[in-house]
Amino acid sequence: MLKDRSILLGITGSVAAYKSIELIKGLRHEGASVKVVMTEASKRFITPLSIELATESPIEPASGNSVYCDMFDSPLSHVSLPADADLFVVAPATANIIGKYANGIADDLLSTALLAFNGKVIIAPAMNWRMYENPVFQKNLQYLVSIGVKTVGPERGSLACGEEGIGRMADIEKIMEAIRTALSKQDIAGEKVLVTAGPTREDIDPVRYISNRSSGKMGYAIAKIAKRRGADVTLISGPVAIKPPDGVDVINVETANEMHAAVMDNISRSSIFVMSAAVADFMPAESKGRKIEKKEGLSLDLIKTGDILEDAGRLRNKPFIVGFAAETGQRLDRARKKLVDKNIDVIVFNDVSKKGSGFDVDTNEVVIIDKKAEKRLPLMSKDDVAIALFDRIIELKYNNG
Ligand SMILES: Cc1cc2nc3c(=O)[nH]c(=O)nc-3n(C[C@H](O)[C@H](O)[C@H](O)COP(=O)(O)O)c2cc1C
Repeated sequence: MLKDRSILLGITGSVAAYKSIELIKGLRHEGASVKVVMTEASKRFITPLSIELATESPIEPASGNSVYCDMFDSPLSHVSLPADADLFVVAPATANIIGKYANGIADDLLSTALLAFNGKVIIAPAMNWRMYENPVFQKNLQYLVSIGVKTVGPERGSLACGEEGIGRMADIEKIMEAIRTALSKQDIAGEKVLVTAGPTREDIDPVRYISNRSSGKMGYAIAKIAKRRGADVTLISGPVAIKPPDGVDVINVETANEMHAAVMDNISRSSIFVMSAAVADFMPAESKGRKIEKKEGLSLDLIKTGDILEDAGRLRNKPFIVGFAAETGQRLDRARKKLVDKNIDVIVFNDVSKKGSGFDVDTNEVVIIDKKAEKRLPLMSKDDVAIALFDRIIELKYNNG
């Protein structure tokens, strides 16, 4: 994702400065080249040597100097560093650097390089909650937001000073996702994407239910990539144990009937609908209002649940619709039939009995089938499957395949 992208990272004088090491490692792991500007105050929290070591890797050593502190050590670094960068990130960002940037003050290398940069800037504020809530600080922050600077965090929680409140620097993964979004193509901006994910639960009684092995990872990856590429995303999720992506509207449901109702409520506002949830096909004909006792014995009478994909495919003003066909074995014929029978645009076939594919793993091996082509993809991360799926959706929707 970040391969060959050049990131200039500013580190300022906050207790959170040590977390920049994890950020640098994460960026390098995804293929980015990272150069760092440290303020004088930041050096009281972490040494330039530690930062330099994080920017190096024995396999792929960083070329040339990677950590810069003094504007006068390397004349013109305040201009050349920003000129070479695809993205400028300041994490952690103190109240001081935010105030200086908002007011055009350029009295050290970081503040001067920020003024000399005309690309995208992300800041991750970190400070005591009183500093954060101070109207002077808020005015500076809001001015930066109004000129297009992206902020990530801060979060509420226990602060380094021992107090509770807003001011913790955002998690590194959140900062990473903001960076991926900033450097990602925005080719589905303006689209309203509706995604379903996870399993459903069909109650037998208040204690027991029927469900399936879906973890929601595929649908959550689809929602994340759609958001990253600029879409407005609504995620209808069955019960799962994973966190939804940031910036996505989440509707939590439990049963197939609830998911059906939530889809029908939202689909008319959507331009792309991806049905990746593993909806239970059957539900108990009746659900007891009390726990069935063991001695009573149990035999279940099951009835079919409503078919969400079929009902979506029948709508007069339907969005672009993508379904999933989870099969055991290479039953591509069944997936092809589903594409036609359900009157949808794309079906993603996956063999859930294959190792590394399907339920509760981070990878998947799929075939993307539409009316014009079948694309067989190798085993890859669910994020990469989602990227390939949106590439195909864009081709079909805008370039006629
Ligand atoms: C122990 C300690 C922790 C600090 N933590 C923060 C912080 O999290 N956020 C902040 O805005 N300032 C914090 N400060 C104050 C800044 O270090 C100070 O404003 C400094 O001038 C910032 O300089 P810089 O923005 O050039 O790095 C802290 C100071 C000390 C002594």
